[in-house]
Amino acid sequence: MNNRQIVLKSRPVGIPQPQHFELVQAPVPELKDGEFLVENHYLSVDPAQRGYVNDENNYAPPVPIGAVMRAMAVGKVIASRCAGVSVDEFHYGWFGWQDYCVATPAGILRKIDPELAPLSTNAGLLGINGLTAYLALHDIGQPKAGETVLVTAAAGAVGSIVGQLARQAGARPVAVVGSDQKGEQCLRDFGYADFVNYKQPLEAALKRTCPKGVDVFFDNTGGEIADTVLRQMALFGRVIQCGTLSIASWVPNPTGLRNDREILTRRLRMEGFVIFDHLKRYDDTARKLAAMIQAGTLRYAEDIGTEIADAPQALVDVYAGRNTGKKLIRLR
Ligand SMILES: NC(=O)c1ccc[n+]([C@@H]2O[C@H](COP(=O)([O-])OP(=O)(O)OC[C@H]3O[C@@H](n4cnc5c(N)ncnc54)[C@H](OP(=O)(O)O)[C@@H]3O)[C@@H](O)[C@H]2O)c1
Repeated sequence: MNNRQIVLKSRPVGIPQPQHFELVQAPVPELKDGEFLVENHYLSVDPAQRGYVNDENNYAPPVPIGAVMRAMAVGKVIASRCAGVSVDEFHYGWFGWQDYCVATPAGILRKIDPELAPLSTNAGLLGINGLTAYLALHDIGQPKAGETVLVTAAAGAVGSIVGQLARQAGARPVAVVGSDQKGEQCLRDFGYADFVNYKQPLEAALKRTCPKGVDVFFDNTGGEIADTVLRQMALFGRVIQCGTLSIASWVPNPTGLRNDREILTRRLRMEGFVIFDHLKRYDDTARKLAAMIQAGTLRYAEDIGTEIADAPQALVDVYAGRNTGKKLIRLR
């Protein structure tokens, strides 16, 4: 069986570009005891993959040159020599940007119940994006009725869910997005009460849309946007540091405005969140989100390509804001 794989060709600095990757073909190896073979159906494209190939400031060793690009995917087990993993099961896990993955149970993030939701949803809303939105918002943000929740990258896979969950909690979600079109989508589909286009002067727009200050800041971008938002926080506000989309590179380490005094005088709490610390809560949280989809109380958007060769460009597009919802590549 032939396996198309996207491998890392050279190490980028900053956001990886298509020239840092190569599409190769390789035979699928024989399974050894304890292994199973996954046929990938949906490949996930995630901003975090920039970190997977860069050496700097990461919490896992980078993908070696020549290795298959680390990625989450949804796939079907088509052969197994692993007790507890059976043919025809669907799983969401670390199966890489490739057609087939020889995997072990360590690579599984969650077993999929195909009755709960469409297969693709398991790589987005019921994958790390929805789970992060739910757990980070509730664990760290703890929004209360009437509070203002400001969300960056608000029209994206994580942000679109945060808006709706904040609204369900009785809070007033405000979106930060890169275009008025995405802002309108946030108002129409994702529960947001107002939006700010960060390509326009930000401070005045924040004062206008968050007149009582920001109680919960769900930060997916960091950088100058976050610097500006911190100066608009309400007393005792909570900051969820979830992503750093706006930092082009950590080499050299970015410098800028100091916000120490904002944190002090406004008595802010700021906490980082990494979804992989919460593996044991995946099933339970995914069921809660799936129940909301079935009840019609949660909407989501997916942006699905069909060519494995396009996966590297898809990552560039996500960083350029050209995705409309969770970015996936469908293989079958
Ligand atoms: N901590 C965790 O465990 C965890 C888990 C999952 C995801 N995340 C993080 O959550 C964030 C969103 O991820 P996602 O998968 O849902 O992606 P996404 O929001 O679907 O796509 C990224 C969006 O970010 C915006 N963006 C890109 N560059 C930007 C910049 N320089 N400044 C402001 N906005 C920018 C773009 O929208 P606009 O057109 O609006 O600019 C783009 O569409 C990422 O930071 C990701 O790393 C964290």
